[in-house]
Formats: sequence, C-alpha cells, structure tokens
Amino acid sequence: MPLVTGDDLLVTARTQGYAVGAFNTSNLEITQAVFEAAAELHSPVMLTTSQSAIKYAGFENLRAMVENVSDATGVPAALHLDHGTDLDVIERCIEGGWTSVMIDGSHHPLEKNIEVTRRVVEMAHPENISVEAELGRLVGVEDEISVEEGDAAYTDPDEAERFVESTGCDSLAVAIGTSHGAYKFKGEPRLDIDRLEAIASRVTIPLVLHGASAVPPDVLELARKYGAELGDARGVPPESIARAIDHGISKINIDTDLRLAFTGRVRRILSESPEVFDPRKILAAAREGIKEVVAAKIRLFGSENRA
Ligand code: G3H
Ligand code: 13P
Ligand code: ZN
Repeated sequence: MPLVTGDDLLVTARTQGYAVGAFNTSNLEITQAVFEAAAELHSPVMLTTSQSAIKYAGFENLRAMVENVSDATGVPAALHLDHGTDLDVIERCIEGGWTSVMIDGSHHPLEKNIEVTRRVVEMAHPENISVEAELGRLVGVEDEISVEEGDAAYTDPDEAERFVESTGCDSLAVAIGTSHGAYKFKGEPRLDIDRLEAIASRVTIPLVLHGASAVPPDVLELARKYGAELGDARGVPPESIARAIDHGISKINIDTDLRLAFTGRVRRILSESPEVFDPRKILAAAREGIKEVVAAKIRLFGSENRA
C-alpha cells in the first residue's frame, strides 16, 4: 500500500499505548527483513534513513526501494528521515517522497532549536509531511562525561512543553538516558522514567525514544563466537523499553541491533561455509537474522496486529 505519514502511525500508537518500531535501512536486505517481519505480524512500521544512509545508497534508490517493497507488502508504513540536520536534505525528502522527517536541532541552544524546527514544520506541513524534533541530548559512555553532566543533557519537561507549543512539531524525541550505538551504559542500565512521565503529562504528541537497541545477549554472543570484537557492549533491556512505552513512548528507533544481527549472521556463514561466495547466500543469511530481531521488537513494542 502507499506510504502513510508519521502522524498516521504515531497518533494512534500514543492514544492506544503501544509503540511503532522505526528501523534504519540502507540496503535491500534490511528493507525486506523489516517489511517481512511487519507483514507476518500485521504491524505498522517506519523505515528510516539517515543522511549518511542516503549518501551511501542514493536518494532515489532508497525511495524507490522502500516504496516498492511497501507496495508489495501491504502494511501501513512510513518513510522517515532520521536525524536531519541539513535543511537541503530535509527539503529534498519533503519534496521527494519521504512521508516523515526529523529535524535534529538538539545540538543547538533552545531558541535556535525552536527556530530551525519551526522552519522545517513550515516547509513540511503544507505537503502533509510529519515532523519529528529532538530536545535534550543523547549522551553515552563514549562521550566520556560525568553522570551529572549526562543528567543535565536530559530533556526538561517544562522546556518540552514550550518547545512543542512554539514549534508545532508532530512528535518529540526525548533524552532520558539512552544513547546511540552498542555501548550505552558502563554499569546498570538506567532510564529516567520519572522524567518521561513528567514530559508525557505536559506533552500530548507522540514521544520518541532514540538509542533504544537492546544489544540482545544471543545476538551479541553469535557475533562474538564468530570473531566480532565488541568490548563491553550493553543496551537497553526489554523491561525498560516496556516501561517507557507504558509512560508515553510511541516510536522506538532501532539500528544497532540490526547491525549486530547482520554481522553475526554474515560471520557465521562465511566461517561455517567457506565454499560460499554467492553474495545472495551471504546476504540472505543476514536478512533472516535481521527479520528475527525486528519480529521480537514488534512483539515487545505491542504493535503486532495493529496494521
Ligand atoms: O542515529 C543514528 C543511526 O544509527 C544512523 O547512523 O548515521 O551511521 O547511518 P548512521
Ligand atoms: P540504536 O543505536 O540504539 O539502535 O539507536 C538508533 C537510533 O536512535 C536511530 O536514530
Ligand atoms: Zn537516533
């Protein structure tokens, strides 16, 4: 079916208390894996492309691929620009087939973030494209800052209310303790659910959780078994994700877990079947691993049978 907007998927998710998975893609196999899992579980889904994914795969290639696979699959799906920082890329997405864009002004001071976000809302809304914005910064162990500095980067509930009123954005990414990548926590994982609750009581639009990969133990173990060096990789446990959904998170971004699944499966087939040199056999193994991860997310997020 034709792509739908971010709002078409997320407003219902917020009112009905589940979350839609937003999965980063940059190639055919990831796209197929996400759509196959979503179709089997009758789940809405978001396919997201970062600016670097667009650079890697090509703007038209990604758009045509996601549209084609979506048409053939028949679940409600949106094509979303992840972490848009370049206004030219954002404009191109708005005009060129994306149905949802993120303006990430989180690195700016508040007033500048409001200004750039409002500008993107003014560009996107006349074209019926949804806009996600971000307030607060996602800091992880790789940023090497103190716990206090990390807390200070979290989203302030009062600011969130003012930000949403001033910008007219459709969804808001919040910083409550997650971070991008495979190394999210040094000790015990900790999400600031009280803060999320306070934000959700002031902001009625859908809230978004970035940096939400779990680094699942089985996926990590497989990749390590076949030689991946992943240090002290640690993600957000499923229980924390479930609590976040209970407290207003309606869109959950996953990239790292797909990358880990891809890596483990490719390593395994190359190691166990050294005679294989057909890219399709190698990439089909990766696709299967990603599909399993996506299916587990859909079940955890509660979006199964919501299509
Ligand atoms: O949030 C970032 C995503 O994981 C995309 O990362 O810029 O390497 O494509 P990328
Ligand atoms: P992960 O690195 O935890 O998968 O987060 C992805 C993300 O937030 C993409 O925007
Ligand atoms: Zn992100």
